[in-house]
Amino acid sequence: MDSNHLTHLEESLPSYWYYDEDFFRKEVANIWGNHWIYVCHKSRIEKNRTFVTIKIANQNILVLRDSKGSIKAYFNTCRHRGSMLCDQETGVFDSKLLRCPYHQWAYSVDTGELISVASFSKNPEGFNKRKFSLFKVAVEEWRGFIFINFDENAVWTPNEIFQRPPYPFNNFPVEDMVCGHVWEKIINSNWKSFWENFNECLHCPNIHPELTDLVPMFSNRVINPKDLPTWVEKTKDSDPKYSGGLRSGAETWSNDGSAQDCQISTLTEEDFLKGHVYASSWPSMFLGGYADHVRAVRVTPVSSEKVKITAEWLFEKDTINNKNYDINNVVSFACTVMEQDAYACELNQKGLHSIPYRNGVLMPEEYVIKSFHEWLKNEMGEKA
Ligand code: FES
Ligand SMILES: [Fe+2]
Repeated sequence: MDSNHLTHLEESLPSYWYYDEDFFRKEVANIWGNHWIYVCHKSRIEKNRTFVTIKIANQNILVLRDSKGSIKAYFNTCRHRGSMLCDQETGVFDSKLLRCPYHQWAYSVDTGELISVASFSKNPEGFNKRKFSLFKVAVEEWRGFIFINFDENAVWTPNEIFQRPPYPFNNFPVEDMVCGHVWEKIINSNWKSFWENFNECLHCPNIHPELTDLVPMFSNRVINPKDLPTWVEKTKDSDPKYSGGLRSGAETWSNDGSAQDCQISTLTEEDFLKGHVYASSWPSMFLGGYADHVRAVRVTPVSSEKVKITAEWLFEKDTINNKNYDINNVVSFACTVMEQDAYACELNQKGLHSIPYRNGVLMPEEYVIKSFHEWLKNEMGEKA
């Protein structure tokens, strides 16, 4: 089998794709308005009437568990004169009615129907409350992960939402795990730069010294053992520098490498040997799976030059309840890595405005970026 490396010269994307406001508006319509977007793990809205809001560019969506336990999603906009209904990022509604803070139109949390208009006068002739329900957003769940689609009638295609398939997570009990920590950061870069950076490891040894120490293969600047030119001989080697696992003695992505005796009970010896597994759903989410936890990372564009990253750490309930387990051991390790990536993305963004720079080139190791670019061009109706 051949290596995955690119053998032909490939240009990277035009620089204006990373900062042009008109291009960004088209992306919001063609990509973000057209795909299943990750919101959060279901454990974050476990109780009835708990909600989260998610902002994608200038669109704000309210996602909640209704009073009967079903998950619903609405555009976060009042039908009276367009006020935002809920200006918090998360919380619990204290009644079955969702009241607009402006003139107090009240909607059913369960159905989105307009219930009352808080006016003492007779309603104008021809006014029909039934025509002023909240605008619905499609919402679905994949193994405990909640996804929305702006198009209320979008077809749910769970087998197609992941470009990097999630089968390595088959033994992870993700639907029963609970969120133990959330971390958010706004990065001053285009959202595509985040994905490009995630999809290559040419930067690993210099940007991520701690991670490269934990995952020795990253010192070769590759993401897959097959990427090494001499992979056929080397991958027979159990040395993690070539097999891709964690350094000898390390069990998970944590500061000291220890899983603190809280290995996920359903994982096999083979899963533990891999050390870390991934799945990704463009444009909005990737999953990392480790011996004692799962990390779900959400990517949402704020503007053409800002992207918000939201990471959730999921644990088995026994792990969360174990007083001897220090969550910070895994949280702070990943935060170190994500802060380093944020720095790299911001550095990249700052250089893109240079007048003579139109586009760059991809190196052989950047084959996933090439697939990402092809996907983008296809979604944008541009020639691949
Ligand atoms: S805008 Fe919501 S009640 Fe007026
Ligand atoms: Fe990185």
